[in-house]
Order: sequence, then C-alpha cells, then structure tokens
Amino acid sequence: MPDASEFQTLHEVVKAARANVPDGPWDYLVGAAETETTVLRNRFAIDSLALRPRVLHDVRMIDCTSKFLGQTMRLPVFVAPMGSVQMLDASAGLGLAKGAEQFGVTSFLSSTASPGLEAVAAACKGPKIFQLYVRGDLAWVEDYVRRAIAGGFHAFCITVDTALYGRRERDVIKRFVPIARRAMTGADFQASISWDLVKWFKDKFQLPLILKGIATAEDAITAVEHGVEVIYVSNHGGRQLDQGVGSLDVLPEVLDAVRGKADVIVDGGFMRGTDVLKGIALGAKAVGLGRVCGFGLGAAGEAGVRRVLELMEIEIRTAMGLLGVTRVDQINQRHVRAAPPIRIPNTLKSAFPHLDLNEGRY
Ligand SMILES: Cc1cc2nc3c(=O)[nH]c(=O)nc-3n(C[C@H](O)[C@H](O)[C@H](O)COP(=O)(O)O)c2cc1C
Repeated sequence: MPDASEFQTLHEVVKAARANVPDGPWDYLVGAAETETTVLRNRFAIDSLALRPRVLHDVRMIDCTSKFLGQTMRLPVFVAPMGSVQMLDASAGLGLAKGAEQFGVTSFLSSTASPGLEAVAAACKGPKIFQLYVRGDLAWVEDYVRRAIAGGFHAFCITVDTALYGRRERDVIKRFVPIARRAMTGADFQASISWDLVKWFKDKFQLPLILKGIATAEDAITAVEHGVEVIYVSNHGGRQLDQGVGSLDVLPEVLDAVRGKADVIVDGGFMRGTDVLKGIALGAKAVGLGRVCGFGLGAAGEAGVRRVLELMEIEIRTAMGLLGVTRVDQINQRHVRAAPPIRIPNTLKSAFPHLDLNEGRY
C-alpha cells in the first residue's frame, strides 16, 4: 500500500486507487445509472460556474472551518455515505469514518457499509451521522434509531431517492453484483416509504433528521413542513434516476424554497477544492464528498481518506486566499458567475485532466 502522505495531488490518489481496485469494484465506484447523464450533469453544473476573485485583501490568516449541526468542522465538507466500500479496502466504512475523524470533518456511515454501526461507534468518537436505507417496518427503523443514539451519532439520515435500485449498467453488463446487493432484503419497504415515515420520525425522536436525495423545490417545501432539520440535495451521484438535473443546478431552487427554515447541504460531482467553494457560494451549509473519498479509501485505506481531505484543504485554502476571503462565511454568490464549461463533462477527466486515460483503464 502506498504511503498516503506522499500524494501531492488528488490526481495521484485517483491513479493509486485505480492501481489497487479491481475492475468490478472500480466500475461500481465510478459508474452511474443507465446513460450516466445525471452524473455528467453533476460535473457540467459545477463546470458551468466560474469564480470571481477579489484582490488586495490581507489573506495571511485563512480560517477554513465551518459549523454544521452544532459541530465545528475543519472544512465545510463531509464524507457522504457509501455502502459496499469493503470492495475498495478492507477497512471499509470504518476507514471512511476514521479518515474523516482524524482530519476533523463529519462523516456519514451507510447502513450498507461494514463493519456496522456499533463497531464504527466504538472506534470513532468524532462527529458522525448514521444513514439508513429503510428495509424494514417501523419497529426495524426504530431499532436503528435507538442504536444510532446509543452509539453517539449526532443526526440520523434517511435516503429517499432509492425507491427502486438504479440500473447501473457498467455493473449489469459485467453481471457484477456489489456486496450490499447480494443478500438484500426489504426492497419492498424501500419502495413503500412515504412522508408518513417522516412524520412518524419527527413525532417520536429528538435526533436531527436529514433527508438525503431531495432534488426539487416541491419536496424541499414538504420536508420543511414536516420539520426536517437538514435537506440534503443529491441525486445519489447519478446512480439512481438517469436524465436528472445536476446537483449544483438544483441547489438554488431548493434554497429559495427553504428560505432558511432548514439547513441545506449538497453532494454530486464535487471533487476539487474550487468545486466545494462553488457549492458554498451558492448557499450550501456543507458539501458532501463521495467518490473522491472512495478514491482515497481505495488508494490507501483510512490514511488515503485523510490525505484526500488534506489535499482538499490545501486547495480550498489557496482558492479562498485568491478569492480574497479569510472565512468561509465571507463566500457568497458574488464570488461566482455563469461561464461556459471548457470540457465535455467526464466523470474523471473533468476534475482530473492530467490523468492519462490510456495509461490504465479508468
Ligand atoms: C460507491 C458508492 C456507494 C454509495 N453508497 C451509498 C449509500 O450506501 N447510501 C447513500 O445514501 N448514498 C450512497 N452513495 C451516494 C453518495 O452518498 C453520494 O450521494 C454521491 O456519491 C455523491 O456524488 P460524488 O460521488 O460525485 O461525490 C454511494 C455512492 C458511491 C459512489
């Protein structure tokens, strides 16, 4: 396994991950649903914004920290929930959680990531959120909530964009079945959940609730009416509904609808420090990192995840200084403007143009 501290760019992390991760899990990580239009639109949306620098400000002291759900985070980012990551590295969900903890940001633990809620809770005392796919009845959900509370998770996330499992054709074509799908039960529950579940949760528990996978103003308004604390704008990294809108393009309509009555966070295609700043400039409270942390995990386990976040910090600090700001809360809509993207979107090449796609199979 490479020494993660040797990675000087995120490019090197991606390259090392590709060298370590076999073809099946690699395509599971980078792939998306059907024509992969949604995932490409995630990049297209990010690449269609340019940054507007302000000069002649003293930027010797730059503070990249930010607050989310009462926790101070070293960067305005969090590690998005990812399941079946045991296919990328044996440390799996624990590697993601520990990498985030060591660096100093919140991570989401997926209900389909090993080694499971209690093991991660015991090994990782940093800020963490539990994410559930609802695959059982209310008693089953309640059991998870109580275990998450007992394990010190400070919020509970229900993923709501997965009523049916997206057709990820890279996997289907190879007849590759990711670990979490192999013994999957409860698909009917997942298809049946409705706003009644949200009402039930809010009536019963104090733990802040996050709905992950909101992609319209209409659903954001309903979520606010139900008292949901955090609206998580996401299209699951383009892995669920194909032909969707890019996440960053959805963010303004959701923020407009929510009008400050809930925190709004976002993920989808954010791979570089400047990407994160665009999300923050448009008004996200924090930006989720999925695949890019998966690359860190695949490259060097928890140390790789930590290194991804360190490199992200270098990029964010540099960009903040060049934008003329010293605090995250100084970044606003005046720091971005629409601009034509300069590349045809590509899941990897858009963010990592120096990867030589001929050198290995990306
Ligand atoms: C390998 C992988 C596994 C994922 N597993 C889950 C999961 O278990 N639960 C969930 O809510 N989202 C899951 N997602 C979606 C991510 O949480 C996130 O929404 C998405 O990856 C963000 O896009 P990005 O990868 O472009 O950053 C997964 C994504 C990937 C790439």
